Amino acid sequence: MDLLVHLPLLACSLLLFPLTMTVGREIAADACASQITGFQHLNSTGLHLTLHHPQSPCSPAPLPKDLPFSAVIAHDAGRISRLTTKNPSRHPTSLHLGNKHVGSQVADSLAVTVPLTPGASVGVGNYVTRLGLGTPTTSYAMVVDTGSSLTWLQCSPCVVSCHQQTGQLYDPRVSSTYASMPCSSAQCSELQAATLNPSTCSKSNVCIYQASYGDGSFSIGYLSKDTVSLGSSSFPGFVYGCGQDNEGLFGQSAGLIGLARNKLSLLYQLAPSSGSSFSYCLPTSASAGYLSIGSYNPGQYLYTPMISSSLDTSLYFINIAGMSVGGNRLAVSSSEYSSLPTIIDSGTVITRLPTAVYTALSKALVASMGGTPRAPAYSILDTCFKGQVSKLHVPAVDLAFAGGATLKLQPGNVLIDVDDSTTCLAFAATDDTAIIGNTQQQTFSVVYDIAQSRIGFTAGGCS
Ligand SMILES: *[C@@H]1O[C@H](CO)[C@@H](O)[C@H](O)[C@H]1NC(C)=O
Repeated sequence: MDLLVHLPLLACSLLLFPLTMTVGREIAADACASQITGFQHLNSTGLHLTLHHPQSPCSPAPLPKDLPFSAVIAHDAGRISRLTTKNPSRHPTSLHLGNKHVGSQVADSLAVTVPLTPGASVGVGNYVTRLGLGTPTTSYAMVVDTGSSLTWLQCSPCVVSCHQQTGQLYDPRVSSTYASMPCSSAQCSELQAATLNPSTCSKSNVCIYQASYGDGSFSIGYLSKDTVSLGSSSFPGFVYGCGQDNEGLFGQSAGLIGLARNKLSLLYQLAPSSGSSFSYCLPTSASAGYLSIGSYNPGQYLYTPMISSSLDTSLYFINIAGMSVGGNRLAVSSSEYSSLPTIIDSGTVITRLPTAVYTALSKALVASMGGTPRAPAYSILDTCFKGQVSKLHVPAVDLAFAGGATLKLQPGNVLIDVDDSTTCLAFAATDDTAIIGNTQQQTFSVVYDIAQSRIGFTAGGCS
């Protein structure tokens, strides 16, 4: 079906049709949902959501159980291509079309179809939570992404395509607080900065967004607003994307929550009432963590400055100051750590380091792992051992940032099991943008304080 031909008609029906259906509610699995209580680093006054590892049995949007780890890594590479500093078409103002063609006058300005990379997805590495939307409120399983700004979810009637999701689709026709956003709205003008794609306008004057991701996944639909609910707090007029064409492997999630630095991100929209900070603990697949918007306990963290970069003003840049293995600093000059811009990202699985730093890290780890038998390289991971991380003696690895904040990495932050008998150093080399990925952040509390331009870390966050 052709999205563009149907958009104006659909937009009218969204606005004119009365409520005709009632909304069924999702009931979260009690055992998993109750884990939000008791995290020691949570400030009692913030808004808190339970966060799940994409492969946790408690995740409301689990990935396929047989998803090979190599597919996760393939996704990682795609995600990074979006951030690449060397690719001149990093801002995809003209996305290349597959064979899905758009006709009509509206289409001229929406001549966009995004290439699909089968098996790769923005959702594969991202953590999952539940967010309420609409009146009455229904909760949806959403991936959380610090690397993008616009929140969107699949939206009935899915004019072109919706992937399979956990629970029912969001249906704007049954929410009494839904409204579409006109093309003249300030939020529509903000889309270029939020999505790096231009907005377009339907014949009935509804603003159309295009959210695309480095791995080829995308969502296209109406810019809309409705009441968003986090726990027991509600916020009217939250602006998000009502996705009519959602393609890629987003797991079973309904959509994505954008937490990057842009006016349209969930963070900025809630900031006037909640404060411009958020914190999270990314759990392992065997535990639960949290996402908290607003207040945090400032005394518990060690901080590094949050840096703005013209490479992408919506991403969170920080500076690495040094690394050590078993208490010994890596044999690399300290200028190597800052030889590339570095971002911290919730959705990248494997940390990327400047090549010289990575090479020194790999050497130092192999030396200190002594006689542990080596295993062949696995995908981009070239420092592998026979065995499982839980059974091996892994040296202490420290990752220090400018200003003194340090991640004292646990064995599970250093090595990642890629199959039943192989574990690999969960870092890789890059000569492009360095990235602090989510394997290294797991079980730490990380706070992003935009008002004070700082990012803080503290250990033991998921307990
Ligand atoms: C919780 O957050 C509030 C508001 O940001 C702050 O004033 C307070 O100090 C925090 N509580 C603790 C225990 O740090």
